[in-house]
Amino acid sequence: MWLPHVVQVAQLLSLLSLVAFSVRAASGSSSVSSAAPSGQLRRIWLEDHCSAGICSNVEIGRNDYVILSQQPIAKQLMLTFINSSIAKIPHLMFDTFPDLQMLRMENCSLETFEKPQFEGASNLMSLFLGHNRLKDLPKNIFLGADNLATLHLEHNLLKVLHNHSFHALKELKQLSIADNQVEQLPVGIFTGLRKLLDLDLAGNRLEALPRGIFDRNLNLTRLNLGRNSFAAFESELLKLQQRLTLLDISGNTLQELTLNFTQLDQIVAHSCDLRRLTVYGTIRELDLHNNALRELPHIPQAGNVSSLDLSQNPLGNLQGNPLRRFTSLLRLNLSSTNAHELPEGLFKKQTHLQMLDISGNSIYSLKITLFDSLKSLQYFHFQQNNWNCDFLQLLMSSFVKKRDISFMEDVTAPELVDDFVDGIACWYESDKTSKKCDGGSANSAAALELSIVRNEIKAFTELVEKKFVKVYRMLEEMKLKL
Ligand SMILES: *[C@@H]1O[C@H](CO)[C@@H](O)[C@H](O)[C@H]1NC(C)=O
Ligand SMILES: *[C@@H]1O[C@H](CO)[C@@H](O)[C@H](O)[C@H]1NC(C)=O
Ligand SMILES: *[C@@H]1O[C@H](CO)[C@@H](O)[C@H](O)[C@H]1NC(C)=O
Ligand SMILES: *[C@@H]1O[C@H](CO)[C@@H](O)[C@H](O)[C@H]1NC(C)=O
Ligand SMILES: *[C@@H]1O[C@H](CO)[C@@H](O)[C@H](O)[C@H]1NC(C)=O
Ligand SMILES: *[C@@H]1O[C@H](CO)[C@@H](O)[C@H](O)[C@H]1NC(C)=O
Ligand SMILES: *[C@@H]1O[C@H](CO)[C@@H](O)[C@H](O)[C@H]1NC(C)=O
Repeated sequence: MWLPHVVQVAQLLSLLSLVAFSVRAASGSSSVSSAAPSGQLRRIWLEDHCSAGICSNVEIGRNDYVILSQQPIAKQLMLTFINSSIAKIPHLMFDTFPDLQMLRMENCSLETFEKPQFEGASNLMSLFLGHNRLKDLPKNIFLGADNLATLHLEHNLLKVLHNHSFHALKELKQLSIADNQVEQLPVGIFTGLRKLLDLDLAGNRLEALPRGIFDRNLNLTRLNLGRNSFAAFESELLKLQQRLTLLDISGNTLQELTLNFTQLDQIVAHSCDLRRLTVYGTIRELDLHNNALRELPHIPQAGNVSSLDLSQNPLGNLQGNPLRRFTSLLRLNLSSTNAHELPEGLFKKQTHLQMLDISGNSIYSLKITLFDSLKSLQYFHFQQNNWNCDFLQLLMSSFVKKRDISFMEDVTAPELVDDFVDGIACWYESDKTSKKCDGGSANSAAALELSIVRNEIKAFTELVEKKFVKVYRMLEEMKLKL
């Protein structure tokens, strides 16, 4: 074995009253593992680099053998390397630090592992190797780290993982492989991870998962599959997980999705281009923002939903009474849903609602009785609409301020606005007398049209951050025509 051999070399070197030097180590020796070609034997004086468990400016090349200390250093529980370039974890890391429980080597240009890398690492509980250049996790590489509970490998260059990449990690509870280049996973990859609770696979190139991949991870609680290339998702994959609380599938292109869970706390499925969503089972929180939904999700057990984020969906004007079965809602976000009006009885069953967001729409006026049922409301976001100033006054005095409800002010450019009521932009009807002559409905249709144009211009100008003068003039002209 090369291991004791290196130790001997190190001891020999220490006898030579070394300062900092390097020699060709064991080159050509048959005892050197073929995976580790001959390189520099280097002594790194930890006392020069480390203080209170933080080590900096450590340079270790791919071919270096590094000796950190002659003697094991006991009671060192944590080590963090920063501003360092470390192509591989030093061979004798866990012999040198037998008590090490946490090793952070993030952003260190780590490229490769060498076997046996984690021999003697039985005290290691947390290993952070994110933001490096690892391309591969060889089979059985974690042998020896048999108490590891947390493993972070995010932001590497991992592409292919093997059935036995995570072998021996029977205590692992948290695993992140997020933001790598993984295209597929073998069905047995997580088999040994019986205690896994939290798995993050976000930001890879996965298109599908093999059936049965989670069948041994019965305690899986949080699963992040966001930002991959899934075109479909089968909740069947998670049928055995009784404790699942969070599923994140956002950032995949799913369009039509049916989920069926016995019980799940939270589904995060934003930015999926979803057109239709059906959820069977008990679900508490749904984040569906930035999709293509034109109707509310179909949820037979809607009465168990407490939080629903439908913002940035083209719902338009909701028809009928689509929220009538969402009787336990605490938070509802209808921001930027292309709404011009809200049906009168929309919130009838939302007596528990605490937070309501209808900002970023084109709402001009509402029936004030709409708010009668919102008896628990504490936060009401309604800025960035096309409020009529008279209605807005009424809304403020008879509901928002009367009930001491928190709201957000507008950020609309003053040139575009007739007035502000408590910081919220609003517009007056242009000509009260013509309203009488023309009859109200034609006028309010025209006002609505104006408000839509106004909103579009507003969005546009906010986007490009240009000056508003010209637009404002156009708007004035249109207003005069009304
Ligand atoms: C690490 O590098 C950053 C930026 O180069 C520097 O601000 C910081 O002080 C360095 N930290 C240590 C401990 O050397
Ligand atoms: C990695 O280190 C570089 C330079 O030291 C720094 O600019 C960069 O922000 C770091 N990245 C992370 C994710 O820590
Ligand atoms: C991976 O392991 C599973 C069982 O856990 C086995 O069915 C499959 O054949 C293995 N695949 C490879 C490539 O070894
Ligand atoms: C799953 O979690 C339960 C409750 O925390 C625990 O009793 C059980 O041992 C866990 N199973 C595994 C395989 O870790
Ligand atoms: C949902 O799954 C359960 C058990 O896995 C099954 O009995 C039920 O029929 C499914 N419901 C629907 C609507 O598919
Ligand atoms: C779901 O809601 C119903 C009534 O609305 C309630 O009886 C049931 O206990 C709830 N289920 C869960 C898991 O909270
Ligand atoms: C509602 O959704 C919008 C857009 O997704 C977001 O910016 C806003 O913060 C949300 N409102 C609340 C109160 O969380």
